[in-house]
Amino acid sequence: MSKQPEQWASKLGFILAAAGSAIGLGAIWKLPFTAGENGGGAFFLVFVLMLLFLGLPLLLAEFTIGRKTQREAISAYRTLAPDSNWHWIGKLGVGAAFLLLSFYSVVGGWIVIYLVQAISGQFVGLDSEGFENMFAQVTQNGWLVLTAHFVFMIMTILVVQGGIQKGIERSTRWMMPTLFVLFIIIVIRSVTLDGAMEGIAFFFYPDFSNLDGQTILYALGQAFFSLSLGISVMVTYSSYLKKEEDLPRSAISIVSLTLFISILAGLAIFPAVFSLGFEPTEGPPLIFIVLPAVFSEMVFGQLFFTLFIILLLFATLTSAFSLLEIVVASVTKNNPEKRKKVAWICGLLIFTLGIPSALSEGILPTLPVIGMTFFGASDFLVSNILLPVGALLIAIFTPLKIKKDDLFTEIQHGSSFKRRTFEIWYFLLKYIVPVAILLAFLNAIGII
Ligand code: PHE
Repeated sequence: MSKQPEQWASKLGFILAAAGSAIGLGAIWKLPFTAGENGGGAFFLVFVLMLLFLGLPLLLAEFTIGRKTQREAISAYRTLAPDSNWHWIGKLGVGAAFLLLSFYSVVGGWIVIYLVQAISGQFVGLDSEGFENMFAQVTQNGWLVLTAHFVFMIMTILVVQGGIQKGIERSTRWMMPTLFVLFIIIVIRSVTLDGAMEGIAFFFYPDFSNLDGQTILYALGQAFFSLSLGISVMVTYSSYLKKEEDLPRSAISIVSLTLFISILAGLAIFPAVFSLGFEPTEGPPLIFIVLPAVFSEMVFGQLFFTLFIILLLFATLTSAFSLLEIVVASVTKNNPEKRKKVAWICGLLIFTLGIPSALSEGILPTLPVIGMTFFGASDFLVSNILLPVGALLIAIFTPLKIKKDDLFTEIQHGSSFKRRTFEIWYFLLKYIVPVAILLAFLNAIGII
């Protein structure tokens, strides 16, 4: 039986932790290179629409499920739909979190390596080619990437084993504000580079000839990834909420913060890409090659680059906490006595699953048939299949298994949500979200 879980100490603590989960590699690392490979502005526009019309309603749905049941991902669905198979939504989420964290932590490891290199001055005096070589050297050094992946995982475990208030809330409370401040400094530098306009135009000007079915599915996957949706991470985080917190307002804050950081990320990166003569289609290494080059051009570049890497590390860690948390909470069923042990065991298993991803970006060959690296294939499976499928199931489950009036009552606790707004949300969730996800799938596989 699930126990009554620990709770967030404050409303701000919850918002920062949930925003910390949302804001991470998705907004800062994945969005720029995915937009870069998929035509820029048009992709970004579709992403924003998905964030608002699909992401926001779904986020509120996950919050409602979590707070209503006060249970972790799997038990939440069991409580609402006993003796049925719906708890598989939670199991799918936990499985997806497991796989996601396995390669997320690999990128976390690259960040750790870059931090050490930045502090020890290894970027000084390199040119564009030098930065490209640097990335290749890092990813081709098997022991180095594995050690760094391990270090990142240990940092995540150390926080999650401490629990909600003493672990996650305490860390995110100072990491997130620091991240915002550092980000603003970086953007100011990037948009004032010579030739920055071309990059700004690439990011904001929607050229719809660049849009096809695949791009739309990528934008959808990106929106769910960026808001940590579809795998019940937000169900788990909101299960630690008190009844008097305002769910709609929290959901709006988190979507706004994520959007804000996504814009800042584009503004930090694309002006620099164009101004310094890189290609926006570099793929996953994009920020690891372009950003060091940006900083090398500026006064105190070394210092700012180090700050940026710290920012990126915080953003990545706060997302990783939520991924490990959903796994730990669902295994311990919120039993605090088991937390420490389970955090270590699950964390180390996730590390092991990440080994092929860690080695696949520079050492192992690409997988036969699908032609992707192990890392690329895991990312594709999570972002473009598991998250949208999970989101689809949550959108079907919520109106089907929770009575409309019960949903309204739950959302209304602590909020001044009007019936009219509720009806709009309900309509979006019940009809628009599932239809949009299905259309995106059918379109991507070429059926429509
Ligand atoms: N939202 C995180 C990011 O953008 C990734 C994530 C996805 C975290 C799903 C938790 C759940 O980096």
